[in-house]
Amino acid sequence: MLNQINIAVLVSGGGTNLQALINAQDSGIIKSGKITLVVSNNKDAYALERAKKANIETAVLLKKELGSQEIFEDKLIETLKAHNIGLIVLAGFMSILSEKFTKTFEGRIINVHPSLIPSFCGKGFYGLKVHEEALKYGVKVTGATVHFVNEIPDGGKIIMQKAVEIQDGDTPEVLQKRVMEQAEWIILPNATEKVCSELLKV
Ligand code: GAR
Repeated sequence: MLNQINIAVLVSGGGTNLQALINAQDSGIIKSGKITLVVSNNKDAYALERAKKANIETAVLLKKELGSQEIFEDKLIETLKAHNIGLIVLAGFMSILSEKFTKTFEGRIINVHPSLIPSFCGKGFYGLKVHEEALKYGVKVTGATVHFVNEIPDGGKIIMQKAVEIQDGDTPEVLQKRVMEQAEWIILPNATEKVCSELLKV
């Protein structure tokens, strides 16, 4: 019987959410899964350095080099299967995955999004842009969401959410940092453990 799910974390940038996952694994918050692979679609992502420091295998897949999104996804599926991955965590992964991909790993892909879905989400809402839009709209509360990934961008079933207050004078950068510290870095590891423990029962 399996006692740990092999986790792949998909990244594109700084990797602070990956770091939160690594820290949660070290402190025992994540115990039903083990991060065995980090895949980046950006060769310069600092997240790759974080993975290497934690002795986690890395892979870089570049759509530009591979020629198309379809070939990129085929190569990604091949890599994930070769590593016997049971859960895919999108942690700041800035690429929308096709239905073919999401169906291949149905119920086994989760994503962290920096707002309270269904606000400020969907195509075009990623990274700092999400916080810019929240400030522009004038909402007083925002937050983060971890959800399952299906073919609809940010449209899968919600697993966890946490609210964060907006303060007078917030800039997108200040708000992004608060949402990460008070929400993303807490709910992503907790949701990862929850989903892994449920997948162990399947
Ligand atoms: C995070 O805020 C994450 O929620 C967001 O990008 C940032 C990545 O930071 N993801 C999205 O907007 C996806 N739609 P990180 O690389 O430091 O984890």
